[in-house]
Amino acid sequence: MYVITGATGNTGQHIVRTLLAKGARVRVVGRDAERLKPLAALGAEPFVGAAGDVKSMTRAFAGATAVYTLVPPPYSAPQVRNTQNAVSQTYAEAIIANQVRYVVNLSSAGAQLAQDFGPVNGLHDHEQRLNQIGDTHVLHLRAGFFMENQFFNIALIRAQGINGSPLRAELAIPMIATQDIAAVAAQHLLALDFSGKSTIELLGQRDISMQEVTRILGAAIGKPDLPYLQFGYEDARAAMVGMGLSADMADGYIELYRYINDHGYPQLEARSVKNTTPTRFEDFAQGFAAVYGK
Ligand SMILES: NC(=O)c1ccc[n+]([C@@H]2O[C@H](COP(=O)([O-])OP(=O)(O)OC[C@H]3O[C@@H](n4cnc5c(N)ncnc54)[C@H](OP(=O)(O)O)[C@@H]3O)[C@@H](O)[C@H]2O)c1
Repeated sequence: MYVITGATGNTGQHIVRTLLAKGARVRVVGRDAERLKPLAALGAEPFVGAAGDVKSMTRAFAGATAVYTLVPPPYSAPQVRNTQNAVSQTYAEAIIANQVRYVVNLSSAGAQLAQDFGPVNGLHDHEQRLNQIGDTHVLHLRAGFFMENQFFNIALIRAQGINGSPLRAELAIPMIATQDIAAVAAQHLLALDFSGKSTIELLGQRDISMQEVTRILGAAIGKPDLPYLQFGYEDARAAMVGMGLSADMADGYIELYRYINDHGYPQLEARSVKNTTPTRFEDFAQGFAAVYGK
């Protein structure tokens, strides 16, 4: 039995589909029965529960050989790191209570940093907590910047005809399609080929700058001259709060962008065949254009 948290999200749904296609038993965890229905229709066992609730997660993980853990981004939490740690603690207790042997954990490039890297510092804490669980084999997938983050800019592109973020225009960073993370997660969940506590970085198909991202997106949506604007930190923070993020989450993202601009992306590994994944930004842009056009 595999238990997949965040099953309705970017990575979770792809993992579930792959495991089911291989004939595995899969329990899918989410907060809303309706959102779990499409996965249940494919043969997954739905489990409705909140990630911060120990009793609920302990039942969710019952009988699991392996669990995929994902600490959901707490966009509106007044205290982001505390909220992430509460979820992390819940997962850890549920893993211990059920003596789960294998965990694949979605983490982030930069999770070696205990400070100064926004919401990723909460994933650092989660890694540390899982690493303290004695008999459980844990594989941390430290993913680069998600291509899917560009979906948050659709409203901006539509309303103002620009793409923008606080990132420096020409700074190339490792950008990954979440389906590629899911493919690696599913592969290791099926093979159970990891032992002890280990970490791999997943850096996408190539490093790419926001300038190039914007050129590719612009071409895909029929706006070949779409400009990219580097937003000031204060303006970006105000816009995030305006979109409903808590002040603490907006501060965290600004901290993360500032870190990347000042120091470069904090991955530890040099790019290699092992940490490079197939989906090109050009491929992602086709899916982006389909969503943009709706
Ligand atoms: N964005 C990036 O560039 C980036 C880079 C590296 C790592 N990460 C990390 O990747 C993770 C996000 O992964 P993702 O994109 O696959 O997920 P996602 O699409 O953000 O989805 C989050 C999932 O968590 C579930 N969820 C949210 N709150 C929950 C709660 N309180 N209890 C139970 N389930 C809850 C949601 O399901 P329901 O709504 O159906 O409950 C949803 O399935 C985060 O840990 C993030 O820090 C992000």
